[in-house]
Amino acid sequence: MKPVVYVTRTIPEVALTLLRQYCEVIYRDEMAPPSREELLKNVLNVDAIYCTLNEKIDREVVDASPRLKVVGTMSVGVDHIEVEYATSRGVYVVYTPGVLTETTADLAFALMLATARRVVEGDRMIREGKWKLAWAPTMMLGYDVHGKTLGIIGLGRIGVAVARRAKGFNMKVYYYDVNRRKDIEDELGVQYLELQNLLKISDFISIHVPLTPETRHLIGEKELRMMKPTAIVVNTSRGPVIDEKALVKALREGWIAGAGLDVFEMEPLPPDSPLVDLPNVVLTPHIGSASYDTRNMMAQYAAEGIIKVLKGEEPENLYNRDVVKIRPLHLVKMV
Ligand code: GLV
Repeated sequence: MKPVVYVTRTIPEVALTLLRQYCEVIYRDEMAPPSREELLKNVLNVDAIYCTLNEKIDREVVDASPRLKVVGTMSVGVDHIEVEYATSRGVYVVYTPGVLTETTADLAFALMLATARRVVEGDRMIREGKWKLAWAPTMMLGYDVHGKTLGIIGLGRIGVAVARRAKGFNMKVYYYDVNRRKDIEDELGVQYLELQNLLKISDFISIHVPLTPETRHLIGEKELRMMKPTAIVVNTSRGPVIDEKALVKALREGWIAGAGLDVFEMEPLPPDSPLVDLPNVVLTPHIGSASYDTRNMMAQYAAEGIIKVLKGEEPENLYNRDVVKIRPLHLVKMV
């Protein structure tokens, strides 16, 4: 009998084809994520769940799925999964690190440039028929990016990829991380700073930490007040890392100059969010990894991880390595 995998929503074909070679696939071919009710109902008789970051895989879901052996998420973030609980129940968690690094760093840089150089405001000005002066010495002035100081919060894979790009822009790069990265310091010439010092010194601040209880509201009112009035904050990690209320206040009252945001405390961002009315903010709808190539790679990587576990082999994209002690792989093997 083939293992059963529940795919929560429409995914790239490449992953579906792969899953169908080894599994019986319950495919929910819908762009929107399932309701909580639907999710709980559909996981009842499955061996694997293929999900995205929009489905909360908490203890209730794990408990609703007595046969569950593996959860594969098409994301590098796993904050939507109660990993510790899954581990305690012998449920493997696979994810998609590495394959989206460069694409996400590209977007962080795009947001940095777009916010500093007022690209979206300029576009709006033309579309709204407000471009009256062909060229004017003081029209739409913004901030240079090249040669400025970048503070990276979280020097993991994506933070490093942003640092590499910044070097090409001749930027001075500092970072803060709970782990000191001497290898990267030597290789790229980036310097470590305590968070407060980094906030005070940076022209641009780009956030690349995972969302954990420790990083929730890591950037709040106190931190925003430490930044330069000309600083621009970019967030492509998770919305709740920044206290959004405090950020709105900072942007309105000019404690900082602008923000480029791909992630929000609530997604989709409610249309009545005060962020929408601020001219010094560039907003994108959580598209950090959204290139054709990268989404195909992510989809495939998550599927490969699920299949490996079901074959009784340890996948390289296993997040909770401790799970092998709770349920060894030979006991999971189904294909
Ligand atoms: C996207 O936000 C991801 O975690 O992959």
